[in-house]
Amino acid sequence: MSHIKEEALASRGEGRIEWAYSMMPVVRGIGKRFSREKPLKGVRIAACLHVTSETANLMRALKEGGADIRLCASNPLSTQDEVAACLVRDCGIEVFAIWGEDRKTYYQHIQSTLEINPHLTMDDGADLIFTIHSERSDLASNVVGGTEETTTGVMRLRSMADENVLRYPVIAVNDAATKHLFDNRYGTGQSTIDGILRATNILLAGSSFVVCGYGWCGRGIAMRARGMGAKVVVCEVDPLRALEATMDGYPVMPLSEILSQGDVFVTSTGDRWVIDRQHFELMKDGAILANAGHFNVEINLEGLEALAAKKRKIRENIEEYTLEDGRRINLLGEGRLVNLAAAEGHPSMVMDMSFANQALSCEYLVREGKTLENKVYRVPQNIDQKIAELKLRSMGIKIDKLTPEQRKYLSSWKMGT
Ligand code: ADE
Repeated sequence: MSHIKEEALASRGEGRIEWAYSMMPVVRGIGKRFSREKPLKGVRIAACLHVTSETANLMRALKEGGADIRLCASNPLSTQDEVAACLVRDCGIEVFAIWGEDRKTYYQHIQSTLEINPHLTMDDGADLIFTIHSERSDLASNVVGGTEETTTGVMRLRSMADENVLRYPVIAVNDAATKHLFDNRYGTGQSTIDGILRATNILLAGSSFVVCGYGWCGRGIAMRARGMGAKVVVCEVDPLRALEATMDGYPVMPLSEILSQGDVFVTSTGDRWVIDRQHFELMKDGAILANAGHFNVEINLEGLEALAAKKRKIRENIEEYTLEDGRRINLLGEGRLVNLAAAEGHPSMVMDMSFANQALSCEYLVREGKTLENKVYRVPQNIDQKIAELKLRSMGIKIDKLTPEQRKYLSSWKMGT
C-alpha cells in the first residue's frame, strides 16, 4: 500500500533511526509510557511531516500508544528514503514519500495519507488540513483535532480561524516555548549553516552574510553565522524585530542596500518574493542564495529563471544561473528549505522537544478534543513545562526551587521592599 523508493533500503534506515533515538530521551520516555497506557488505542493519525529519522521516532512513539498511522512528506526534498523504508518494513507504518517526488506525486501522497480517514491530523505546513478543507471536506467531521509544527502553518491556520472556516481545533505546536525557542532558534540556526556548508563548502569567516527575517529562525541563523566569523547583516520589515537585531549588534538595512556586497543571502520570513527580480539585477557575481523558510516562495524562482541566459547544476544542490551580463547567481536546494534539502534538518536532540510536544498534544486532543472549539490553541502550559523539566533531567541538569517564603512573596501584592 505504501509508496516509497525501495524497501530494500530499510536496513540502512534502521541504524539512522536508532542513532536519533539515542538522542531523543523525552520522546523515548513518552513512547515507553504510551506502550503501557495505550492512550491512542484505535486512533487513526494522518501525518504530513519531513520524513526523517527524528520523525520516525515520533511515529514509533505514537504507534506504541496504539495509533494507526499514515505518513507523507511535508516537502518533496526532505525525505530520507532509507528511513521511509524502515518505517514500512519494521514499524507497521504506511508511508507515502519519495525523495525528489514531483509536485503531482507530492499531492497524490497527501491524498493517499488522508485515505486513512483520520481522527487526528499532524501537519508541518498545514497541507493536510488545507487539503481536507478544500478537497476532502467529507473527512472533516470525523477529525477530533490537528497539530501544526511550523510558523508558516500556524499563520495559515490563524487566517482560517479568523475567517471562521476551520472545521476542527488545532494545536499550534510551534508556539510552545519548548518548540520555537529551541527548534526554530538553535535547530534552524545550526542546520541552515550545515546545509549551506554541505552544499557549498565556502568559508564563512569574513564573508558578507545577509539574513532576511529576524524571527526565531532568523535570530538563530544570524547568531550561528556570526559565530563562524561571517559579517552578518539583517534585513527586516518589522520595527520591533529590526530594533532587536540592532541591539543584538547587527547592522540592519533594506535589502537593496546590501545587494552588491552580500556573498550569501538567506531568507527566513514566511513570505513570498523576499528576494525578487530587481534584487538579482544588483547582486555581485557568485552570490549564493538559500531559503530557510517553509515554502519555496521566498526567492522569486520564476523571476530568476526569466533573467537567466544559462542555467546548470554546478554541483549537488547548487544551481548556477548566469545572467545576460555574465554574472552568476547560485541557488541552493532549488530554493527549498536548505537545512533539509542539503543537510539532515535539525539535530535529534532539539527535535526531541518539538516531537514531545506533538506526541503529548495528540494525547491531549484524544482526551479533550471534543470539548474544544474550532480554533487554534496553544499547547497547554503544563505540557510545555513538563517537557522542559524532562529535557533538563535527561541532560543531568538540576535547578533551584523557590522557598515557601519566596513563593508567597511572588503571589502577594502587599509585600514590597
Ligand atoms: N524540521 C526540521 N528539522 C527536522 C527534522 N530533523 N525532522 C523532522 N522535521 C524537521
